[in-house]
Amino acid sequence: MSQTRSQQTALVHSDYTAPGGFMGCSAAVQRVSTVLFENVATLRARGADPLARSAYTYGLFGTPASYELEARLAELEGGSHCLLTPSGLAAITMVDLALLDRGDDVLLPENVYSPSRDLGDWLNAKFGVSARFYDPMAGAEVAAMIQPNTRLIWVEAPGSASMEVPDVPAIAAAAHARGVLVALDNTWSAGLAFKGFDHGADLVLQALTKYQSGGSDLLMGAVITRDPDLNRRIGLAHMHLGLGVCMEDVYLVLRSLPTLNLRFQAHDAGARQVAAWLATRPEIARVLHPALPGCPGHDIWKRDFRGAGGLFSVLFDPRFAEADTDRFVDGLRLFGIGFSWGGAISLCVPYRMQHMRGNWREPGQLVRFNIGLEDPLDLIADLEQAFRAL
Ligand SMILES: Cc1ncc(COP(=O)(O)O)c(C=O)c1O
Repeated sequence: MSQTRSQQTALVHSDYTAPGGFMGCSAAVQRVSTVLFENVATLRARGADPLARSAYTYGLFGTPASYELEARLAELEGGSHCLLTPSGLAAITMVDLALLDRGDDVLLPENVYSPSRDLGDWLNAKFGVSARFYDPMAGAEVAAMIQPNTRLIWVEAPGSASMEVPDVPAIAAAAHARGVLVALDNTWSAGLAFKGFDHGADLVLQALTKYQSGGSDLLMGAVITRDPDLNRRIGLAHMHLGLGVCMEDVYLVLRSLPTLNLRFQAHDAGARQVAAWLATRPEIARVLHPALPGCPGHDIWKRDFRGAGGLFSVLFDPRFAEADTDRFVDGLRLFGIGFSWGGAISLCVPYRMQHMRGNWREPGQLVRFNIGLEDPLDLIADLEQAFRAL
């Protein structure tokens, strides 16, 4: 350290340079807002286009760790570009704000993630964008809903409470015939069990909050495209909205990626075991698990999907009122009561479907399960004791 500096300056600046050649198994995380340039010439010559991901400008626009996570998520989905957002919902909003203008129309499935439905109302009130709802099982018939001002159709594969598996290729064919873009929320399959681009999606969204984190401890979203122009359109909204992500969280997702497939398979096996057991119970009228017959779109799941993960729902026999199923959920010991999925701890949520969907006609209370990484036999024993209390 230089002798001429004051102690205070030495506390801020250091001439020390660590030796090069260091390698570890984990990504290096840089916590930065300011990115430093070697000299004015490099500052001036920096890639003026942050979307090119070829240089560094400012923490908001990316670091080596966030570029790496983007590249790896794009590869996983079979895309070429990826934009990270501070939550899955931020990713949905970013896509809508990027692709919809005043007077445009967007189609959402009736089973869409509820905040996305509310977002439709907000877009309508603020920007005059109309959001209309289609039957998630409409398939090619969605064509009848497309208007000259329809720009975007959202698809959830499957709906994350009522679990209908949509015919994405049929919806995409109908959309593309009219020049409409298809946005797929592919969170349920983690990008592993369903390949959105192969089935016609133009952009794929992931709530990394779920399986990619795996820890129920962070929020993040991603939008993946394979068309540079579409990435640019969405990327402009990403920049203007200033949607930076926390690099510690990027690190945690990078750390979880190597086990993503193994965890997903464990969730999948456990969920199928628990779902099959629930299907034998007299208290349960229907199990809504895409891999089990009886779930709307089960045949489509068999045709298009390669796995199922941990999330499914059941419909209780209509003889049980809401107070009964609430008592059942309260009686569970291993299942936490809470939203989301993809973490190690099993979760359970009762849904008021009539409140969420005015045209919901299925009798019986809907309860959603996220099967975590506990031994499925212990989960079954827990469910059994909660059934006894009914
Ligand atoms: C299907 C689906 N998409 C997106 C999101 C949004 O994810 P986040 O919680 O990261 O905002 C959720 C959250 O539960 C979801 O269920």
